[in-house]
Amino acid sequence: MDRPFLDLAPCGPLKGRIRVPGDKSVTHRGLMLLALAEGEGRLLYPLKAGDTLSTARVLRALGAEVLEEGPHFLVRGRGLRLKEPEDVLDCGNAGTLMRLLLGLLAGQEGLFAVLTGDASLRRRPMGRVVEPLRAMGARVEGREGGKRAPLAVRGGPLKGIRYTLPVPSAQVKSALLLAGLFAEGETEVEEPTPTRDHTERLFRHFGLPLEVEGRKVRTWRTGPFPAKDLVVPGDFSSAAFFLVAALLVPGSEVVVEGVGLNPTRTGLLTVLKAMGADLEWRVLEGEAGEPVGWVRARYSPLQGVSVDPGLIPLMVDEVPVLAAAAAWAEGETHIPGLSELRVKESDRVAAIAQNLRALGVEVEEGPDWLRIQGGGVRGGEVEPFHDHRIAMAFAVAGLPVGVRVWEPDWAEISYPGFFRDLLRLCAAS
Ligand code: S3P
Repeated sequence: MDRPFLDLAPCGPLKGRIRVPGDKSVTHRGLMLLALAEGEGRLLYPLKAGDTLSTARVLRALGAEVLEEGPHFLVRGRGLRLKEPEDVLDCGNAGTLMRLLLGLLAGQEGLFAVLTGDASLRRRPMGRVVEPLRAMGARVEGREGGKRAPLAVRGGPLKGIRYTLPVPSAQVKSALLLAGLFAEGETEVEEPTPTRDHTERLFRHFGLPLEVEGRKVRTWRTGPFPAKDLVVPGDFSSAAFFLVAALLVPGSEVVVEGVGLNPTRTGLLTVLKAMGADLEWRVLEGEAGEPVGWVRARYSPLQGVSVDPGLIPLMVDEVPVLAAAAAWAEGETHIPGLSELRVKESDRVAAIAQNLRALGVEVEEGPDWLRIQGGGVRGGEVEPFHDHRIAMAFAVAGLPVGVRVWEPDWAEISYPGFFRDLLRLCAAS
Protein backbone atom coordinates (compact mmCIF):
# COMPACT_ATOMS: atom_id res chain seq x y z
CA MET A 1 0.00 0.00 0.00
CA ASP A 2 1.32 3.45 -0.89
CA ARG A 3 1.39 5.59 2.16
CA PRO A 4 1.80 9.35 1.75
CA PHE A 5 4.83 11.04 3.25
CA LEU A 6 6.49 14.42 3.27
CA ASP A 7 10.25 14.89 3.16
CA LEU A 8 11.30 18.05 4.98
CA ALA A 9 14.77 19.29 4.02
CA PRO A 10 16.94 20.74 6.80
CA CYS A 11 15.37 24.10 7.55
CA GLY A 12 17.44 27.29 7.69
CA PRO A 13 16.62 29.94 10.29
CA LEU A 14 12.87 30.46 10.75
CA LYS A 15 12.01 34.11 10.38
CA GLY A 16 8.86 36.16 10.51
CA ARG A 17 5.50 36.72 12.10
CA ILE A 18 2.61 34.31 11.99
CA ARG A 19 -0.99 33.93 13.13
CA VAL A 20 -2.12 30.41 13.89
CA PRO A 21 -5.67 29.06 13.41
CA GLY A 22 -8.31 29.57 16.09
CA ASP A 23 -8.27 27.73 19.39
CA LYS A 24 -9.73 24.24 19.13
CA SER A 25 -11.09 24.11 22.69
CA VAL A 26 -12.77 27.51 22.41
CA THR A 27 -14.20 26.68 18.97
CA HIS A 28 -15.85 23.44 20.19
CA ARG A 29 -17.31 25.19 23.22
CA GLY A 30 -18.32 28.34 21.36
CA LEU A 31 -20.22 26.33 18.75
CA MET A 32 -22.01 24.29 21.41
CA LEU A 33 -23.06 27.27 23.51
CA LEU A 34 -24.23 29.22 20.47
CA ALA A 35 -26.29 26.17 19.46
CA LEU A 36 -28.03 26.40 22.86
CA ALA A 37 -28.47 30.18 22.77
CA GLU A 38 -31.47 32.09 21.44
CA GLY A 39 -31.04 33.87 18.13
CA GLU A 40 -28.06 34.44 15.93
CA GLY A 41 -24.41 34.72 16.95
CA ARG A 42 -21.07 34.68 15.18
CA LEU A 43 -18.03 32.67 16.07
CA LEU A 44 -15.28 34.85 14.64
CA TYR A 45 -11.96 33.34 13.46
CA PRO A 46 -12.82 29.84 14.70
CA LEU A 47 -10.74 26.78 13.95
CA LYS A 48 -12.07 25.11 10.82
CA ALA A 49 -10.30 21.76 10.93
CA GLY A 50 -11.19 18.08 11.17
CA ASP A 51 -12.21 18.14 14.84
CA THR A 52 -14.25 21.32 14.91
CA LEU A 53 -15.93 20.59 11.57
CA SER A 54 -17.14 17.41 13.27
CA THR A 55 -18.70 19.61 15.96
CA ALA A 56 -20.38 21.84 13.38
CA ARG A 57 -21.76 18.78 11.59
CA VAL A 58 -23.08 17.18 14.79
CA LEU A 59 -24.75 20.41 15.94
CA ARG A 60 -26.47 20.72 12.55
CA ALA A 61 -27.80 17.17 13.01
CA LEU A 62 -29.16 18.39 16.38
CA GLY A 63 -31.09 21.15 14.66
CA ALA A 64 -28.80 24.18 15.05
CA GLU A 65 -27.99 26.16 11.93
CA VAL A 66 -24.23 26.47 11.53
CA LEU A 67 -23.39 28.48 8.44
CA GLU A 68 -20.08 29.39 6.87
CA GLU A 69 -19.56 33.13 6.67
CA GLY A 70 -16.11 33.64 5.14
CA PRO A 71 -13.63 32.59 7.81
CA HIS A 72 -16.35 32.75 10.50
CA PHE A 73 -19.34 30.66 11.57
CA LEU A 74 -22.82 32.10 11.89
CA VAL A 75 -24.90 30.04 14.30
CA ARG A 76 -28.67 30.16 14.76
CA GLY A 77 -29.28 28.57 18.14
CA ARG A 78 -32.09 26.34 19.34
CA GLY A 79 -32.78 28.11 22.62
CA LEU A 80 -31.82 25.21 24.96
CA ARG A 81 -33.91 22.57 23.21
CA LEU A 82 -32.06 20.42 20.68
CA LYS A 83 -33.73 18.31 17.99
CA GLU A 84 -33.53 14.52 18.02
CA PRO A 85 -30.97 13.51 15.37
CA GLU A 86 -32.14 11.21 12.57
CA ASP A 87 -28.92 9.23 12.48
CA VAL A 88 -25.86 8.28 14.49
CA LEU A 89 -23.71 11.27 15.48
CA ASP A 90 -20.17 10.78 14.21
CA CYS A 91 -17.66 12.63 16.40
CA GLY A 92 -14.74 11.67 14.13
CA ASN A 93 -11.45 11.98 16.02
CA ALA A 94 -12.70 14.59 18.51
CA GLY A 95 -12.61 13.55 22.17
CA THR A 96 -13.67 17.01 23.31
CA LEU A 97 -16.76 16.81 21.11
CA MET A 98 -17.85 13.38 22.33
CA ARG A 99 -17.31 14.11 26.02
CA LEU A 100 -18.90 17.56 26.07
CA LEU A 101 -21.77 16.35 23.91
CA LEU A 102 -22.62 13.64 26.44
CA GLY A 103 -23.09 16.40 29.02
CA LEU A 104 -25.08 18.50 26.61
CA LEU A 105 -27.46 15.71 25.61
CA ALA A 106 -27.98 14.07 29.02
CA GLY A 107 -30.56 16.67 30.08
CA GLN A 108 -32.44 16.95 26.75
CA GLU A 109 -35.63 15.25 27.93
CA GLY A 110 -36.83 12.49 25.61
CA LEU A 111 -34.10 13.02 23.02
CA PHE A 112 -32.34 9.84 21.86
CA ALA A 113 -28.89 9.95 20.29
CA VAL A 114 -26.10 7.52 19.45
CA LEU A 115 -22.53 8.80 19.48
CA THR A 116 -19.63 7.18 17.70
CA GLY A 117 -16.25 8.14 16.30
CA ASP A 118 -13.18 6.87 14.48
CA ALA A 119 -11.12 3.88 15.66
CA SER A 120 -9.01 6.08 17.97
CA LEU A 121 -12.02 7.75 19.61
CA ARG A 122 -13.80 4.41 20.08
CA ARG A 123 -10.79 3.22 22.09
CA ARG A 124 -10.71 6.24 24.41
CA PRO A 125 -12.12 6.14 27.96
CA MET A 126 -15.64 7.53 28.24
CA GLY A 127 -16.50 6.04 31.66
CA ARG A 128 -14.92 9.13 33.27
CA VAL A 129 -17.83 11.20 31.86
CA VAL A 130 -20.55 8.54 31.82
CA GLU A 131 -20.18 7.62 35.51
CA PRO A 132 -20.69 11.10 37.01
CA LEU A 133 -23.41 11.85 34.45
CA ARG A 134 -25.22 8.70 35.57
CA ALA A 135 -24.90 9.93 39.15
CA MET A 136 -26.81 13.02 37.94
CA GLY A 137 -29.54 10.71 36.61
CA ALA A 138 -28.38 10.47 32.98
CA ARG A 139 -29.33 7.43 30.95
CA VAL A 140 -26.29 6.38 28.94
CA GLU A 141 -25.43 2.95 27.61
CA GLY A 142 -22.47 1.81 25.58
CA ARG A 143 -19.80 -0.74 24.97
CA GLU A 144 -18.11 -2.19 28.06
CA GLY A 145 -20.95 -0.95 30.25
CA GLY A 146 -20.64 2.61 28.95
CA LYS A 147 -16.85 2.92 29.07
CA ARG A 148 -16.41 3.13 25.28
CA ALA A 149 -18.24 4.47 22.27
CA PRO A 150 -20.55 3.86 20.52
CA LEU A 151 -22.70 5.29 23.29
CA ALA A 152 -26.46 5.79 23.38
CA VAL A 153 -28.02 8.62 25.38
CA ARG A 154 -31.68 9.09 26.25
CA GLY A 155 -32.08 12.59 27.67
CA GLY A 156 -34.04 12.95 30.89
CA PRO A 157 -34.33 14.90 34.12
CA LEU A 158 -31.02 15.49 35.91
CA LYS A 159 -30.13 16.50 39.43
CA GLY A 160 -26.98 18.35 40.44
CA ILE A 161 -24.11 16.55 42.17
CA ARG A 162 -20.90 17.42 43.94
CA TYR A 163 -18.05 15.69 42.20
CA THR A 164 -14.29 15.60 42.66
CA LEU A 165 -12.49 14.76 39.43
CA PRO A 166 -10.40 11.59 39.87
CA VAL A 167 -8.11 12.71 37.00
CA PRO A 168 -7.40 16.28 35.94
CA SER A 169 -9.65 16.68 32.88
CA ALA A 170 -11.14 19.85 31.44
CA GLN A 171 -13.34 17.69 29.24
CA VAL A 172 -14.97 15.91 32.18
CA LYS A 173 -15.34 19.17 34.10
CA SER A 174 -16.94 20.81 31.06
CA ALA A 175 -19.32 17.91 30.38
CA LEU A 176 -20.61 18.11 33.94
CA LEU A 177 -20.98 21.90 33.82
CA LEU A 178 -22.97 21.63 30.57
CA ALA A 179 -25.22 18.97 32.11
CA GLY A 180 -25.55 21.19 35.19
CA LEU A 181 -27.26 23.86 33.06
CA PHE A 182 -30.21 21.44 32.76
CA ALA A 183 -30.12 19.92 36.26
CA GLU A 184 -32.22 20.55 39.31
CA GLY A 185 -30.13 22.06 42.10
CA GLU A 186 -26.46 22.86 42.06
CA THR A 187 -23.69 20.98 40.23
CA GLU A 188 -20.25 21.37 41.78
CA VAL A 189 -17.03 20.10 40.24
CA GLU A 190 -13.81 20.14 42.22
CA GLU A 191 -10.49 19.65 40.47
CA PRO A 192 -7.38 18.23 42.14
CA THR A 193 -5.16 20.42 39.93
CA PRO A 194 -6.31 23.27 37.68
CA THR A 195 -7.14 22.46 34.05
CA ARG A 196 -8.06 24.73 31.16
CA ASP A 197 -10.93 27.01 32.13
CA HIS A 198 -12.41 27.97 28.75
CA THR A 199 -15.85 26.64 29.67
CA GLU A 200 -15.96 28.82 32.78
CA ARG A 201 -14.88 31.89 30.79
CA LEU A 202 -17.51 31.21 28.12
CA PHE A 203 -20.24 30.71 30.74
CA ARG A 204 -19.39 34.24 31.93
CA HIS A 205 -19.36 35.57 28.36
CA PHE A 206 -22.89 34.25 27.80
CA GLY A 207 -24.11 35.21 31.28
CA LEU A 208 -24.67 31.58 32.30
CA PRO A 209 -24.80 30.62 36.00
CA LEU A 210 -21.31 30.16 37.43
CA GLU A 211 -19.50 30.42 40.73
CA VAL A 212 -15.82 29.70 41.16
CA GLU A 213 -14.34 29.20 44.62
CA GLY A 214 -10.74 28.00 44.64
CA ARG A 215 -10.71 24.66 42.83
CA LYS A 216 -14.51 24.34 42.96
CA VAL A 217 -16.76 25.38 40.09
CA ARG A 218 -20.55 25.51 40.48
CA THR A 219 -23.41 25.96 38.08
CA TRP A 220 -27.16 25.47 38.09
CA ARG A 221 -30.15 25.45 35.77
CA THR A 222 -30.24 28.24 33.23
CA GLY A 223 -33.16 29.92 31.55
CA PRO A 224 -32.99 30.87 27.87
CA PHE A 225 -30.02 33.10 27.10
CA PRO A 226 -29.29 35.30 24.08
CA ALA A 227 -26.62 34.57 21.47
CA LYS A 228 -23.57 36.81 21.51
CA ASP A 229 -20.68 37.10 19.06
CA LEU A 230 -17.44 35.54 20.17
CA VAL A 231 -13.88 36.06 18.90
CA VAL A 232 -11.70 32.94 19.04
CA PRO A 233 -8.03 33.56 19.87
CA GLY A 234 -5.23 31.73 18.04
CA ASP A 235 -4.52 28.28 19.46
CA PHE A 236 -1.53 28.27 21.81
CA SER A 237 -1.15 24.53 21.19
CA SER A 238 -0.61 25.24 17.47
CA ALA A 239 1.69 28.18 18.19
CA ALA A 240 3.85 25.87 20.33
CA PHE A 241 5.18 24.04 17.24
CA PHE A 242 6.60 27.22 15.70
CA LEU A 243 7.96 28.50 19.00
CA VAL A 244 9.90 25.29 19.60
CA ALA A 245 11.01 25.13 15.94
CA ALA A 246 12.48 28.63 16.32
CA LEU A 247 14.28 27.63 19.53
CA LEU A 248 15.89 24.65 17.75
CA VAL A 249 17.09 26.11 14.45
CA PRO A 250 20.13 28.42 14.82
CA GLY A 251 19.50 32.04 13.82
CA SER A 252 15.69 31.82 14.07
CA GLU A 253 13.34 34.51 15.32
CA VAL A 254 9.59 34.00 15.11
CA VAL A 255 6.70 36.03 16.52
CA VAL A 256 3.29 34.41 16.88
CA GLU A 257 0.56 37.05 17.00
CA GLY A 258 -3.04 37.00 18.18
CA VAL A 259 -2.51 33.88 20.23
CA GLY A 260 -4.47 32.87 23.32
CA LEU A 261 -2.35 33.20 26.47
CA ASN A 262 -4.74 31.75 29.00
CA PRO A 263 -2.50 30.74 31.94
CA THR A 264 -4.24 27.34 32.12
CA ARG A 265 -2.73 26.61 28.69
CA THR A 266 0.77 28.08 28.75
CA GLY A 267 2.66 25.73 31.08
CA LEU A 268 5.04 25.05 28.18
CA LEU A 269 6.39 28.63 28.37
CA THR A 270 7.38 28.07 32.01
CA VAL A 271 9.21 24.82 31.20
CA LEU A 272 10.96 26.19 28.11
CA LYS A 273 12.11 29.24 30.09
CA ALA A 274 13.58 26.92 32.71
CA MET A 275 15.44 25.18 29.86
CA GLY A 276 17.02 28.51 28.92
CA ALA A 277 14.73 29.49 26.03
CA ASP A 278 14.81 33.08 24.79
CA LEU A 279 11.06 33.70 24.90
CA GLU A 280 9.13 36.89 25.40
CA TRP A 281 5.40 37.44 25.43
CA ARG A 282 2.81 40.08 26.11
CA VAL A 283 -0.92 40.00 26.70
CA LEU A 284 -2.46 42.83 24.70
CA GLU A 285 -6.20 42.33 24.96
CA GLY A 286 -8.95 40.02 26.12
CA GLU A 287 -11.46 38.40 23.83
CA ALA A 288 -14.45 36.52 25.26
CA GLY A 289 -12.65 36.59 28.58
CA GLU A 290 -9.53 35.03 27.07
CA PRO A 291 -6.17 36.84 27.29
CA VAL A 292 -4.64 37.29 23.83
CA GLY A 293 -1.21 38.57 22.81
CA TRP A 294 2.05 37.73 21.09
CA VAL A 295 5.00 35.45 21.82
CA ARG A 296 8.51 35.84 20.40
CA ALA A 297 10.96 32.93 20.26
CA ARG A 298 14.65 33.18 19.30
CA TYR A 299 17.08 30.32 18.75
CA SER A 300 18.45 29.22 22.13
CA PRO A 301 20.80 26.50 23.31
CA LEU A 302 18.61 24.53 25.75
CA GLN A 303 19.38 22.64 28.95
CA GLY A 304 17.60 19.51 30.10
CA VAL A 305 15.21 19.92 33.05
CA SER A 306 13.12 17.95 35.47
CA VAL A 307 9.53 19.04 34.82
CA ASP A 308 7.17 19.74 37.73
CA PRO A 309 4.30 17.21 37.31
CA GLY A 310 1.83 19.89 38.49
CA LEU A 311 2.53 21.76 35.24
CA ILE A 312 1.48 18.86 32.99
CA PRO A 313 -2.29 19.66 33.01
CA LEU A 314 -1.35 23.21 31.93
CA MET A 315 0.56 21.87 28.91
CA VAL A 316 -1.04 18.49 28.38
CA ASP A 317 -1.13 18.78 24.58
CA GLU A 318 2.37 20.28 24.36
CA VAL A 319 4.28 17.34 25.83
CA PRO A 320 5.12 15.91 22.36
CA VAL A 321 6.71 19.18 21.26
CA LEU A 322 8.44 19.54 24.63
CA ALA A 323 9.98 16.12 23.93
CA ALA A 324 11.26 17.55 20.62
CA ALA A 325 12.91 20.40 22.55
CA ALA A 326 14.34 17.95 25.10
CA ALA A 327 15.95 15.91 22.32
CA TRP A 328 17.95 18.97 21.29
CA ALA A 329 18.78 20.15 24.81
CA GLU A 330 22.05 19.47 26.55
CA GLY A 331 21.67 16.76 29.18
CA GLU A 332 18.68 14.86 30.44
CA THR A 333 15.03 15.88 30.65
CA HIS A 334 12.65 14.06 32.95
CA ILE A 335 8.92 14.46 32.28
CA PRO A 336 6.70 12.88 34.96
CA GLY A 337 2.90 12.95 35.38
CA LEU A 338 2.11 11.56 31.93
CA SER A 339 -0.57 8.93 32.69
CA GLU A 340 -3.22 10.93 30.79
CA LEU A 341 -1.04 10.96 27.68
CA ARG A 342 -1.55 7.22 27.38
CA VAL A 343 -5.24 7.82 26.51
CA LYS A 344 -5.05 10.74 24.07
CA GLU A 345 -5.57 10.44 20.29
CA SER A 346 -2.72 7.92 20.47
CA ASP A 347 -0.71 6.52 23.37
CA ARG A 348 1.46 9.61 23.29
CA VAL A 349 4.06 8.32 25.77
CA ALA A 350 4.75 5.35 23.49
CA ALA A 351 4.52 7.44 20.31
CA ILE A 352 7.02 9.98 21.67
CA ALA A 353 9.47 7.26 22.76
CA GLN A 354 9.25 5.43 19.46
CA ASN A 355 9.74 8.54 17.32
CA LEU A 356 12.62 9.80 19.44
CA ARG A 357 14.34 6.43 19.03
CA ALA A 358 13.70 6.55 15.27
CA LEU A 359 15.64 9.85 15.29
CA GLY A 360 18.52 8.31 17.23
CA VAL A 361 17.64 9.74 20.64
CA GLU A 362 18.11 7.72 23.81
CA VAL A 363 14.87 7.60 25.76
CA GLU A 364 13.54 5.65 28.71
CA GLU A 365 9.80 5.16 29.04
CA GLY A 366 7.98 4.47 32.32
CA PRO A 367 4.26 3.94 32.90
CA ASP A 368 3.75 7.69 33.32
CA TRP A 369 7.11 9.29 32.65
CA LEU A 370 9.79 9.83 30.03
CA ARG A 371 13.51 10.37 30.45
CA ILE A 372 15.10 11.87 27.36
CA GLN A 373 18.84 12.17 26.73
CA GLY A 374 19.43 15.36 24.78
CA GLY A 375 22.21 16.23 22.41
CA GLY A 376 20.39 16.47 19.09
CA VAL A 377 18.80 14.11 16.62
CA ARG A 378 19.88 12.52 13.38
CA GLY A 379 17.58 12.48 10.36
CA GLY A 380 15.10 9.67 10.02
CA GLU A 381 11.44 8.85 9.57
CA VAL A 382 8.66 9.67 11.98
CA GLU A 383 5.28 8.09 12.41
CA PRO A 384 2.19 10.07 13.54
CA PHE A 385 0.32 7.02 14.89
CA HIS A 386 -2.91 8.62 13.62
CA ASP A 387 -2.27 11.60 15.91
CA HIS A 388 -2.10 15.21 14.69
CA ARG A 389 0.12 16.50 17.48
CA ILE A 390 2.63 13.67 17.08
CA ALA A 391 2.90 14.44 13.34
CA MET A 392 3.60 18.13 13.98
CA ALA A 393 5.87 17.67 17.03
CA PHE A 394 8.18 15.23 15.24
CA ALA A 395 8.32 17.32 12.09
CA VAL A 396 9.70 20.00 14.43
CA ALA A 397 12.09 17.57 16.15
CA GLY A 398 13.63 16.63 12.79
CA LEU A 399 13.49 20.07 11.20
CA PRO A 400 17.10 21.15 11.84
CA VAL A 401 18.47 18.03 10.08
CA GLY A 402 15.64 17.07 7.71
CA VAL A 403 13.06 14.36 8.33
CA ARG A 404 10.49 12.17 6.57
CA VAL A 405 6.98 12.53 8.07
CA TRP A 406 4.65 9.67 7.22
CA GLU A 407 0.94 10.49 6.73
CA PRO A 408 1.45 14.22 7.26
CA ASP A 409 -2.26 14.87 6.68
CA TRP A 410 -3.00 13.92 10.27
CA ALA A 411 -2.04 17.53 11.07
CA GLU A 412 -5.32 18.61 9.46
CA ILE A 413 -7.23 17.46 12.55
CA SER A 414 -6.21 20.66 14.33
CA TYR A 415 -4.09 22.66 11.84
CA PRO A 416 -4.94 22.66 8.14
CA GLY A 417 -1.95 24.10 6.29
CA PHE A 418 0.54 23.43 9.09
CA PHE A 419 3.33 22.29 6.77
CA ARG A 420 2.71 25.18 4.38
CA ASP A 421 3.04 27.65 7.27
CA LEU A 422 6.14 25.90 8.62
CA LEU A 423 7.84 25.96 5.22
CA ARG A 424 6.90 29.62 4.76
CA LEU A 425 8.73 30.51 7.99
CA CYS A 426 11.73 28.46 6.86
CA ALA A 427 11.74 30.04 3.42
CA ALA A 428 11.50 33.56 4.84
CA SER A 429 15.17 33.38 5.84
C1 S3P B 1 -9.36 19.59 26.01
C2 S3P B 1 -8.86 19.08 27.19
C3 S3P B 1 -7.71 18.18 27.26
C4 S3P B 1 -6.87 18.24 25.99
C5 S3P B 1 -7.72 18.17 24.75
C6 S3P B 1 -8.72 19.32 24.71
C7 S3P B 1 -10.54 20.44 26.07
O1 S3P B 1 -8.19 16.86 27.44
O2 S3P B 1 -5.93 17.20 25.97
O3 S3P B 1 -6.92 18.23 23.59
O4 S3P B 1 -10.87 21.12 25.07
O5 S3P B 1 -11.20 20.46 27.11
P1 S3P B 1 -8.54 16.27 28.90
O6 S3P B 1 -9.62 17.09 29.48
O7 S3P B 1 -8.98 14.85 28.66
O8 S3P B 1 -7.26 16.34 29.66
